[in-house]
Amino acid sequence: MISDGKIWVGSAGDKKVYLYPEMANRHGLIAGASGTGKTVTLKVLVESFLDIGVPVFVADIKGDVAGLANEGDSAKIAKRAKERFGIDDFEFKGYPVCFWDIYGKKGLPVRTTIQDMGAPLLSRLMELSDVQSDVLNIIFHIAEDNDIDLYTIDNLRETIRFITENKDDFTAKYGTMSAQSLGSIQRSLLVLEDLGGEAFFGEPELDIMDWMDDDEPRINILHSVELAHNPTLYGTFLLWMLTKLFEKLPEEGDLEKPKFVFFFDEAHMLFTDAPKALLTKVEQVVKLIRSKGVGIYFISQSPSDIPDKVLSQLSNRIQHGLRAYTPAEQKAVKAAAQAFRANPEFKTEEAILDLGVGEALISCLDEDGRPSIVQRAFIVPPRSYLGALSDAEYKEVVKSSSLYKKYRDTSDNSNTDERIAKLEKSKAKESSKSEKESSKKTSSSKSTSSSKKSSSTKSAAKKTAGKAAGRAVGNAAAVIGREAGKGLVSLFKKRK
Ligand SMILES: Nc1ncnc2c1ncn2[C@@H]1O[C@H](COP(=O)(O)OP(=O)(O)O)[C@@H](O)[C@H]1O
Ligand SMILES: [Mg+2]
Repeated sequence: MISDGKIWVGSAGDKKVYLYPEMANRHGLIAGASGTGKTVTLKVLVESFLDIGVPVFVADIKGDVAGLANEGDSAKIAKRAKERFGIDDFEFKGYPVCFWDIYGKKGLPVRTTIQDMGAPLLSRLMELSDVQSDVLNIIFHIAEDNDIDLYTIDNLRETIRFITENKDDFTAKYGTMSAQSLGSIQRSLLVLEDLGGEAFFGEPELDIMDWMDDDEPRINILHSVELAHNPTLYGTFLLWMLTKLFEKLPEEGDLEKPKFVFFFDEAHMLFTDAPKALLTKVEQVVKLIRSKGVGIYFISQSPSDIPDKVLSQLSNRIQHGLRAYTPAEQKAVKAAAQAFRANPEFKTEEAILDLGVGEALISCLDEDGRPSIVQRAFIVPPRSYLGALSDAEYKEVVKSSSLYKKYRDTSDNSNTDERIAKLEKSKAKESSKSEKESSKKTSSSKSTSSSKKSSSTKSAAKKTAGKAAGRAVGNAAAVIGREAGKGLVSLFKKRK
């Protein structure tokens, strides 16, 4: 809710607790055990951002965020608004939403191309080994150098077939690729298909700037109920999205309010089992995206689900109740408490264990960017509907979207088959030409040319070996770099 131009998050007695719009790009965390009110708090924040004209993105894991589209109707909430918060003119309200769905079922299809996803993220999705992901990297380079589009899984399959059949031609320039690695990658495409990659990889590609339309600010809800069954795809997709946004947005100075805000529910899925290089990338993006006016809010059960380097950058914190039955949970509560600037009126650690539903410890940055003293507050009531939507309601929202026409149907403008056919044809031509030439030469001067030829072949072979060795060293260095978490340059580097 907005009060005095600030986001009114909750109230501690008579004291209103605010999130300052100018500090909202300093990221945040909503934590708490199951059922303590995290999703409702998320909705309250999302509603407030929309009220000040800031478009947002929310990943909806359980389908309980979608209710933002409709106005609320709970008499209990209306009563709470009046009695606890003294809001006499409390009004329920539905918000403009746009549903997105990787599988295209409950939202506009989200698509990207294989080449845009890039080799490192794709390797993760396909569960490739280091050696295989190096080969995939080479495949991407070959495609790029030969102007072959990699949009769909089929495009990639066809390209790998072409490279496998002609791999000796590429060895000199790109290094060796074993038939075994190429075969494994080809087979791993099935993994991508099982993940739903057929729907996800292709055109029209999502233009992420469509989410940032500030003439018509919307809540972009990624329907993630099915997606969440596959944490790797969920995590990789979100990472791709962040990187994309990071690449596209210009640097901004200090803004009065963020340009865009992300909410990642069940954020632990982003981090569980993520390779070190990808973690490093999340850390980097979180750190740098702030200056582009983008705020990121993670929602998770416990702060300990989030890696320290990311956690340390989440400045606006809302901590709902935690339970502490096991030693690990007790430790997590202690850590959560220590993250706050203590309030002399209560013991933070005890309060975390004592909080009721819809109640939280809140500390946001103040106007000067300092963490405020922690407050024990009740979260203001949400104005939108708390329940889920029916299938018909999803459909209606999707169809009425101004982006419906743009994204509804798949298109295919890839040049892949055409380019590969052309390359194969010119190769066939060349080899028949050189066959003719060599048969001509043999018939004209036998002894001299054969000695010349053998020496030039030798030197070419030497050159090739040198290059291949260089490439192998390069690959090894890339692997080491990646292990050390230094593979960032290549992770950020995108084709196009
Ligand atoms: N701020 C609040 N005001 C009123 N009711 C709330 C509030 N927060 C939570 N609740 C109630 O608690 C239920 C569970 O909250 P939810 O946000 O879904 O928990 P979590 O996401 O932490 O599992 C909600 O459906 C709602 O009935
Ligand atoms: Mg929830």
